[in-house]
Amino acid sequence: MAAQKTLERVISKAGLGSRTQARTWIHARRVKVNGKVVENPDHWIDFDRDKVEFDCKPLEVSEKIYLLLHKPVGYITTFKDPEGRPTVYDLLQGVETFVSPVGRLDLDTSGLLILTNDSQFAEQLTNPDYHVPKTYRVRCQTPVSDAGIEALRQGVELSDGPTRPANVKRIDEKTVEIILTEGRNRQVRRMLEAIDNKVETLTRIRIGTLGVGPLEAGQWRRLTSPELDQLLRRRTAPP
Ligand code: URA
Repeated sequence: MAAQKTLERVISKAGLGSRTQARTWIHARRVKVNGKVVENPDHWIDFDRDKVEFDCKPLEVSEKIYLLLHKPVGYITTFKDPEGRPTVYDLLQGVETFVSPVGRLDLDTSGLLILTNDSQFAEQLTNPDYHVPKTYRVRCQTPVSDAGIEALRQGVELSDGPTRPANVKRIDEKTVEIILTEGRNRQVRRMLEAIDNKVETLTRIRIGTLGVGPLEAGQWRRLTSPELDQLLRRRTAPP
């Protein structure tokens, strides 16, 4: 872990709340560093040297938690939505610690979402250099041609550059499974548009070998230690 982080991140990573909430608390003068109120959320904290207090109590590092949520369609993965739409946090009743989604799913995407307060773990699952495979089942609006599948396999040109070669399997004439090791914004939807098709429904069915299993849409559970080990197995730091 980096020896330094901004104050806003330190508060949020301690599991107290989102980064937006952390900024609000810092501006409200509830946070002290080495006994003095600091109002700048971007103030650098050196873990070896600085002592951070929230509401006059030393900041405690919270227990690491790892959740698996079966995200339904119609929920966004940010903490607060200015438009007031439901968020995945509405589904996490009983979870006291603040957790962040490990990679986002669009409002209209369903399936496997991991949430955690362990930023290092999240980094290992989302950084494309670690090549963690994410499997999406895509129902398309029109039949997918063999040429389209081949183009997805080779990589298609998107506005932010070509996609990596992907593993693509046909399920039926309009349904494919795509395994990606990168997670760009709306990537699957844009890949389908690049082959003149459109997503009708999109579900993330696996991260690594982990699936949602018997969880109903909207339900969550904690990940087990063997599942965590499995997710991190053979992941080595990028050069
Ligand atoms: N790709 C997308 O287009 N959307 C998602 O939610 C996930 C992957």
